[in-house]
Amino acid sequence: MERKERLVLLVIILCAPQIHAPPIEDIAVVASVGVAIIAGIVSLPNLYCHFTECCEDKNSADIAGLQTALRWRVFGQHLVSETVLKALVGHLNDEAPNKALAISFNGWTGSGKNFVSKIIAEHIFKKGMKSNYVHLIIATHHYPHQSDVEIYKRQLRDLVERSVSKCPRSMFIFDEMDKMPLGLVDVLKPYLDYHPPGAGKIDFRQSIFIFLSNTGGDLINAAVIKHWKDGKKREDIKIKEMDEVIKQGEFDDKGGFWHSSLIEKHLIDYFIPFLPLERSHIKLCAEAELRRKGHPVSELIFNKVADELSYFPKDLEVFSQSGCKKISSKVDYVMGRMRTMEISIFIALSDRPG
Ligand SMILES: Nc1ncnc2c1ncn2[C@@H]1O[C@H](COP(=O)(O)OP(=O)(O)OP(=O)(O)O)[C@@H](O)[C@H]1O
Ligand SMILES: [Mg+2]
Repeated sequence: MERKERLVLLVIILCAPQIHAPPIEDIAVVASVGVAIIAGIVSLPNLYCHFTECCEDKNSADIAGLQTALRWRVFGQHLVSETVLKALVGHLNDEAPNKALAISFNGWTGSGKNFVSKIIAEHIFKKGMKSNYVHLIIATHHYPHQSDVEIYKRQLRDLVERSVSKCPRSMFIFDEMDKMPLGLVDVLKPYLDYHPPGAGKIDFRQSIFIFLSNTGGDLINAAVIKHWKDGKKREDIKIKEMDEVIKQGEFDDKGGFWHSSLIEKHLIDYFIPFLPLERSHIKLCAEAELRRKGHPVSELIFNKVADELSYFPKDLEVFSQSGCKKISSKVDYVMGRMRTMEISIFIALSDRPG
């Protein structure tokens, strides 16, 4: 028996003496107690889902919150904010989508692919990345050896089927797609394809698959550098021009999608480009990190943190080599040095005669 059903049973047992308590002729009392119990039982699943996580809890998705988070917490990725929201809203609002949602996040290191996946999970599932319905698969950790690809295929099939049968609205995040053993993702084809489920079969069409990779990152960077050199605004970069760039990368680079049936059968619904981050975005990441750690915030500190990173291309030094990835340790370093400097100034001042 499910935990929820056990709870319902417990409530009925606890309430049973009250049903018999009033005199039998007092029909009004009996009726009102009965109504109360039925109302309690009906609302019990909602109550239960209020305190814990339920697959069928339709209210757990917070689209307005997702929109706000993508807008204010993700820096320099206008194409990501626009497209991710559109893709998810369309899929979540559709009671019977005709296929599972498959999104590929492509781009340079430290541009926010894991960060955005985490934000999505937090706004669709009550427990975010810790949800029982969110599965993070990291290529080098879960599937390290090309020679074991046949074993991995069985494991992956089993994971997806077991999870979706428990909760149709399951989410799978595949990190380091470019390091997946070749041929492995082909097993996902039946789950991503336009198959109506047979009677009694598992319906995969409500599930969400997100693939993260650096594939096409250098092509995206080259396109963004060209755009920058042409003096055009970053926000004018359109999803369509980047789409072509990423697809080229997916075809050329020997990553996990290389010649996979997911690409060849056009089963990835959206390729979302993560653009290389500029110094101004690095400063915003520094500010967010300083606030998170409870440090004072100032332009001087943002600049000190930004100065700690390397930028490309060599002649222009516009885009961060490591994106916002090393910001946390750089903030610690800069704050540590500032504190040491403050202490030495304090000592120097207190040593002065008079
Ligand atoms: N666009 C961004 N806006 C705000 N913060 C960001 C952004 N990109 C990265 N960050 C910050 O940097 C950290 C590291 O980024 P993240 O792990 O998402 O990079 P990634 O794109 O997955 O890189 P990799 O390709 O190396 O795996 C995040 O946890 C977040 O704090
Ligand atoms: Mg990552």
